[in-house]
Amino acid sequence: MTTFNKITREKVLDCLKQIREPLVGEDIVSLGLVREIEVDKNRVFLHLESSVEDPRLRDQFRETIIQSVLAIGASGCDVHFSEKPKCGVNPSAIQPIPGVKHVVAVASGKGGVGKSTVAVNLALALKKLGARVGLMDADIYGPNIPIMLGIPADKKPETAGQSEKIAPIDAHGIRAISIGFFADPEQPVIWRGPLLHKTIEQFLHRVEWGELDFLVVDLPPGTGDVQLSLSQWVHLSGAVVVTTPQEVALGDVRKAVNMFRQLEVTVLGVIENMTGPVFGKGGGEKMAEVFQVPFLGDIPLEAQIRECGDSGLPVVMGYPKSTISERFMKIAEAIRRALK
Ligand SMILES: Nc1ncnc2c1ncn2[C@@H]1O[C@H](COP(=O)(O)OP(=O)(O)O)[C@@H](O)[C@H]1O
Ligand SMILES: [Mg+2]
Repeated sequence: MTTFNKITREKVLDCLKQIREPLVGEDIVSLGLVREIEVDKNRVFLHLESSVEDPRLRDQFRETIIQSVLAIGASGCDVHFSEKPKCGVNPSAIQPIPGVKHVVAVASGKGGVGKSTVAVNLALALKKLGARVGLMDADIYGPNIPIMLGIPADKKPETAGQSEKIAPIDAHGIRAISIGFFADPEQPVIWRGPLLHKTIEQFLHRVEWGELDFLVVDLPPGTGDVQLSLSQWVHLSGAVVVTTPQEVALGDVRKAVNMFRQLEVTVLGVIENMTGPVFGKGGGEKMAEVFQVPFLGDIPLEAQIRECGDSGLPVVMGYPKSTISERFMKIAEAIRRALK
């Protein structure tokens, strides 16, 4: 009987409470984005305050809402967005960081593939090529840049001069910022959307980066809030995607590449990490071919890399003449060429 599935305003509201605003990450009802809910027979009309300026993101957001409302049994759903963006997500928030030429993201579809290892060594390799380099640890949930760069746990960033900006910490000739410099190491970090969005903004625009050729950003794994937030605050010159050699990683790479494509960020290429007898070889190159992005090279699975990461002296510094360091130098050269 139709009465069983009858759509009511309350049902729609409950449904909307489950939908998270894509940039801020809180549900759209709590954020006050829902202006009107109209139900006519089983058809739903929604009027929402717009929070997303980017037309593609907005279309995706609309589609998410429509699908959720259809899933509770509505026969149709129209979503109208008002023109004025709300809730602090300001489209004009995208602004250059004064003095910073290129922001390059290091991403992966899943964790543990060596993204931070690549970000650190890539940053240092670029530095060795003569570039001025910063490293931003955007892995808010599991910051490990401080340890990898050997920055002591009690070292805290200071305010830079009278500017009220935060001074990054220098390590091995590059400038770094990480939530690890601020958080209590004993406390697990639980972040809510708005706080996370704000933190990314502070790391980009409230840190005194100075003159940089490259700001390398170590992203958390996946395609979530941090990735979106980052692209809302700054123009990314490009992204590199790190993967392991197995073919099962294909889906993870696809997600990461698609995300950057949707955000209109150039994928500079794929790096295969942990190549060797354990995980095999060639998956990364194959993926690069499938997704038609450059293959930047592979990094072998070597205990040395982990030991260097743990000891705070990254491999390109600790073993500059090793094959691994040469691989990182090659990758850095390719990235520098791509972003001339
Ligand atoms: N090529 C490699 N050979 C050996 N160990 C590696 C290699 N790359 C990364 N590791 C180790 O694997 C673990 C996960 O690497 P990490 O860079 O933290 O990954 P992610 O940032 O993707 O989670 C770390 O202990 C790191 O030292
Ligand atoms: Mg990491």
